[in-house]
Amino acid sequence: MVACDTAERQHTAGLIERIDRTGPALDAVFHAAGTNQVLPLDELTLAGLAEVAAAKAAGAANLHELTAERELTAFVLFSSGAAIWGSGQQAGYAAANAFLDGLAEHRRGRGLAAASVSWGLWGGGGMGQGEGGDRLQRLGLREMAPERAIESLAGIVDRPNATGTLTVADLDWARFAPVFTLHRPSALIGDLPEVRQALDADASARDGQDGPAHGTAQGGALGQQLHGLTPADQERMLTELIRAEAAAVLGHSSADEVEADRAFKDLGFDSLTAVELRNRLNTATGMKLPATLVFDYPTPELLADHVRTVMSPDEGTGSPSIINEIEQLQSALSAVAGDCELRDDVTRLLRGMLSNWIGTQRADEPASTDIEFQSATPDEVFSFLDQELGLPRSTPQTN
Ligand SMILES: NC(=O)c1ccc[n+]([C@@H]2O[C@H](COP(=O)([O-])OP(=O)(O)OC[C@H]3O[C@@H](n4cnc5c(N)ncnc54)[C@H](OP(=O)(O)O)[C@@H]3O)[C@@H](O)[C@H]2O)c1
Repeated sequence: MVACDTAERQHTAGLIERIDRTGPALDAVFHAAGTNQVLPLDELTLAGLAEVAAAKAAGAANLHELTAERELTAFVLFSSGAAIWGSGQQAGYAAANAFLDGLAEHRRGRGLAAASVSWGLWGGGGMGQGEGGDRLQRLGLREMAPERAIESLAGIVDRPNATGTLTVADLDWARFAPVFTLHRPSALIGDLPEVRQALDADASARDGQDGPAHGTAQGGALGQQLHGLTPADQERMLTELIRAEAAAVLGHSSADEVEADRAFKDLGFDSLTAVELRNRLNTATGMKLPATLVFDYPTPELLADHVRTVMSPDEGTGSPSIINEIEQLQSALSAVAGDCELRDDVTRLLRGMLSNWIGTQRADEPASTDIEFQSATPDEVFSFLDQELGLPRSTPQTN
C-alpha cells in the first residue's frame, strides 16, 4: 500500500515506476479515488468544480495516459449513478463521474481494457454515509451490501467484452420513479417494467382525488375535526397542518419556519420533498393528491384552500359533494332491474325526497319546472332532476 495523489501526474507516474521496479508486473488498474461535493449548482465555482473533478477525472486521465501502452487485463473506473440520472446538488461530482464513463468508451474505442461502473449506494461505510446518503435513501436508493456489490464487480471484470459502462444499483422504484419523473417522463427509465408498475400504481392512487376522501384513519379524524368549523377556521387548521408537515419534510424543528404565504419553491422544496409532502398529506387527510401538488398550489395557504374545498365541499361556495352523491344515486338507480320488487318503495322515497327538497327551495327562487310529484312517472322525476342539476339527460327507465 502506497499513499499517492492520483490527481498529480508526477505522483502517479512515480507510483507506476515503483511497481515496475519492485514487481509484480502491473496487470490491472482499479480507480476508486473520489471526493464528493454537495452544493447547489448556482453556488458551484470553477475552483470548486476543479477540486471535485481532480480526484476523479484528473486521476483517471493520469492513470489512462500513463498505462495506455500496457496490456492490462482490467481498467476499472468507479463512477456513480449521479452521472447516469443526475443528482441534485452534485453537479460537479456528476460531471466528474460522467468523464469516467466517457473515458471508458474512449479506451474501448482504442481496443484497451475498460469498464466504468456507475454505483448506486454502498452500505458499510464510505461516502454514501451521512446526510447525503440519507437523502439518497429517501430518494429510493437502497444500500447495497459490499459483498453483493463486489460480486457484481467480479462479474463485470470477468466479462471483458461486455459493455464498457454499467450501472449497478439497488433501487426502490416505488419511491424513485415518481420523484424522478415528477416534471416529465423519463426516456432513461420509462420502459423498465418495474418503473411502469410503480408509476401506474402512483397514478391509480390519485384517481378520484376530487371527491371528499377520508381513506385513512387520520383522514377520518381530521374530517371530523373540520366538521362544523367555519370555512375560515377550517382553512386556518389546514394551513397549520400543511406548515407542520412541510417543516417536517424540510427537516425544520418548527412550523414557524414555514411561512403560510411563501412559495414552496422558495422554502426549498424540490422533487423529492414535493413527493414526500404529498405522501404525508395523503396520510393526514385521506386524500389522493398528485405529486405536483406544491407546484399546482404554490403556497401553504393556497394548498390549504384546495384541501379544504375537497374535504369539506359543502362548506364552501360550491357543493360538488352533493352532486357527486346524486350522480352515484342515479347510477345505482339505473342498475335496478325493471321488475325489482323494491321499485315502488324506491319511487315513493324519491318522490318524498324531491317534495322535501322543493319545499326547502329559497323563497325568492321559483321552481324551474312544473311537475306534479304525486302523480309523476319515474321518467318525469329523473328528467326533472337532470334539469335541476344541469346533468346530461339520463336514459329513460321503463317501469
Ligand atoms: N460509497 C458509495 O455509495 C458510492 C456510490 C457511487 C460511487 N462511489 C464511488 O466509489 C469510490 C469509492 O467510494 P467510497 O465510498 O469508498 O469513498 P470514500 O470512503 O470517500 O473514499 C474515497 C477515497 O478516495 C481517496 N482519494 C480522494 N482523492 C484522492 C486523490 N486525489 N488521490 C488518491 N486518493 C484520493 C480518499 O483518500 P483520503 O481519505 O486520503 O482523502 C479516500 O480514501 C469513489 O470514487 C466514489 O465516487 C461510491
